[in-house]
Amino acid sequence: MKSILHQTLDRTGTDSVKWDGLERWFRLKSDVLPLWVADIDIRTAPAISEALAARAATGEFGYTLFSREAQRAVSSWYGRRHETEVDPNHVLFSNGVVPGLTQIVEALTETGDGVVIQSPVYPPFHELVTGLGRELFDAPLEQVGGRFEMDFVALEESMRQAKLFLLCSPHNPVGRVWTEEELQRVIELAKRHDVIVVADEIHADLTFPTQRHVALNRLDSNVITVSAPSKAFNIAGLFASYIICPDDVWRKRIIQVQNKHHVLPTPFANTAIVTAYTDPRAERWLDQLRAELEEQADYLVGRIQESLPRLTCFMPEASYLLWVDFAALGLTPDERKKWLQQDVRLFLSPGPPFGISGQTFERINFGTRRAILDEAIERLVRQIGETTQPEGNAFV
Ligand SMILES: Cc1ncc(COP(=O)(O)O)c(C=O)c1O
Repeated sequence: MKSILHQTLDRTGTDSVKWDGLERWFRLKSDVLPLWVADIDIRTAPAISEALAARAATGEFGYTLFSREAQRAVSSWYGRRHETEVDPNHVLFSNGVVPGLTQIVEALTETGDGVVIQSPVYPPFHELVTGLGRELFDAPLEQVGGRFEMDFVALEESMRQAKLFLLCSPHNPVGRVWTEEELQRVIELAKRHDVIVVADEIHADLTFPTQRHVALNRLDSNVITVSAPSKAFNIAGLFASYIICPDDVWRKRIIQVQNKHHVLPTPFANTAIVTAYTDPRAERWLDQLRAELEEQADYLVGRIQESLPRLTCFMPEASYLLWVDFAALGLTPDERKKWLQQDVRLFLSPGPPFGISGQTFERINFGTRRAILDEAIERLVRQIGETTQPEGNAFV
């Protein structure tokens, strides 16, 4: 198979959030390189494009149920890829992972109830909790040596006051794939404090070949899982996601909330889920993509360490997001944003919305062509070299 990541896909002019959104939302010129929102600059697996084209050719686009076939496809995928049994009847559709998490929090907690997160974490985790009037309890991750780890003391303290825990597994933005031991401790604590655990596993299928994702529902049959083929197969715009909820009472409450919000799949969502999870060609494509992403991560981390020693980052274990610390440049978040956009001409995901520890960080999306990454590095090297002084920096 030809390289997936190195095939050119020009997404400008396609109404792409990542590329066209820069001008439309932020009034930025087209020479600013977008390495932000989490999708990749590649076509999806050919098997998926073909199946969607065949579905389109039927001409039938009426209101659609979540298909039994899609529920079975999710179950067989978890069985095959994550060694865990999922009853197809426990699989609900959701129109995106964030909407799914929001529906769960709305269904299973009340206004004022506590919800735990572990910052730095994907900004909607913060926003959906506070937006629903629930109280946010943060148990920040700790930087230990060359990686981020859970702080179990802080986690237990937060769980004492909360009803639900939103776990990001693998973790966006720090790139950790949690070990079985870490996840066992999460489950123990949640049981001790009667906390519902909801695992967002959207990045699970992009775990690098040298790592192993442990599905939370393999360790405990009563957790809720929210996931999708959207990151793995780069089809986020189809909003084809699902919730796995084994508890009958919780599932009914989630369905009630979904009915209130008119949550239904598009006909393409069923086709995408079934093809992604059952067509062997799609599975082979994914395995190649995972290997290429690991190689790309290795390359990028190496280039940063070699050419940009004032930036700090750790090798991620999954997906295409790199959490990079710019602290040594001594810039405030606003100064850094201005410098990146106006001087370096890069658009990254700024750290502060990920949580308090994100003040000095930027998240880089490396799911793009090598030439774009090289250009981004060159731009940073040029600007950091040009604008910093040996004994300090020129920005403060
Ligand atoms: C951890 C995590 N959850 C959810 C999402 C978004 O999912 P969706 O677009 O399906 O709501 C992302 C996207 O980056 C993510 O990283």
